Amino acid sequence: MPASIPRPHYVDRSGPDRYTGSHVQSAETIELMRESSRIASDAMYTAAAAIAPGVTTDELDAVAHAYMCDHGAYPSALGYRGFPKAICTSVNEVICHGIPDARPLEDGDLVKIDVTAFKNGVHGDNCGTFACGDLDEDSRLLSERTHEAMMRGIRAVKPGREINVIGRVIEAYAKRFGYGVVRDYTGHGVHTSFHSGLIVLHYDSTVYHDVLEPGMTFTIEPMLTLGDPRSNVWDDDWTVVTNDRSRCAQWEHTIVVTPTGSEILTVAPAGLAAV
Ligand code: MF3
Ligand code: CO
Ligand code: CO
Repeated sequence: MPASIPRPHYVDRSGPDRYTGSHVQSAETIELMRESSRIASDAMYTAAAAIAPGVTTDELDAVAHAYMCDHGAYPSALGYRGFPKAICTSVNEVICHGIPDARPLEDGDLVKIDVTAFKNGVHGDNCGTFACGDLDEDSRLLSERTHEAMMRGIRAVKPGREINVIGRVIEAYAKRFGYGVVRDYTGHGVHTSFHSGLIVLHYDSTVYHDVLEPGMTFTIEPMLTLGDPRSNVWDDDWTVVTNDRSRCAQWEHTIVVTPTGSEILTVAPAGLAAV
């Protein structure tokens, strides 16, 4: 990392400070988040374009890392609670938090790329699911419908509603296809803090009652599985896999609540399809 790029406070520490501020962000913070979010999205799609049989996830990491550095952003994952790489790459039955490594991707792999960028003191966080070579139909549909589940969650966001509306619509949609909904990992408030403490469940539950207000910024990032969504973590302390080794897809956007609904901050670059 070039010394000129400011890094988040948690780098070289065991973890971040607990965030105690408001869940509602100022217009200035939201403006700054547009740039971080745009860089995170562009870095994700740039890395995704490099996916091919024989390419390693370390190479995808290098592409995204270089993109963020070139655009004055720090890769938020690097040094977050000791995470060793710039991005997460999670293949097939890996649900999330996969660590890029030297394993070459194979034809038919389902590859999730999760990129968070930090610039001007704020983060933008996004994830997408991409095919390596020829993907089987079940995996293709899983990714497409996980994207649709995320979009339904985003469209359900309106000021005055409780945050639990999001999980309700995502789970209802996933159930139509018999997909598992991962419960062990959630969406989260994101802004000056990477994970602010605001929790966004992707399943139907009323444990969280936060009322949505204009200016709140958070992620929606459903993880849907072809089989059982229950998970365990490898002894690298990061890699999360399905217990039954069934495949998983994930899509994530950072959004802001507006007076009439919501707006996506991690917009896909022009000319690149979302799925
Ligand atoms: N970007 C992930 C999320 O969506 C978090 C990754 S934490 C890391 O919240 F340390 F693994 F990078
Ligand atoms: Co996130
Ligand atoms: Co993410």
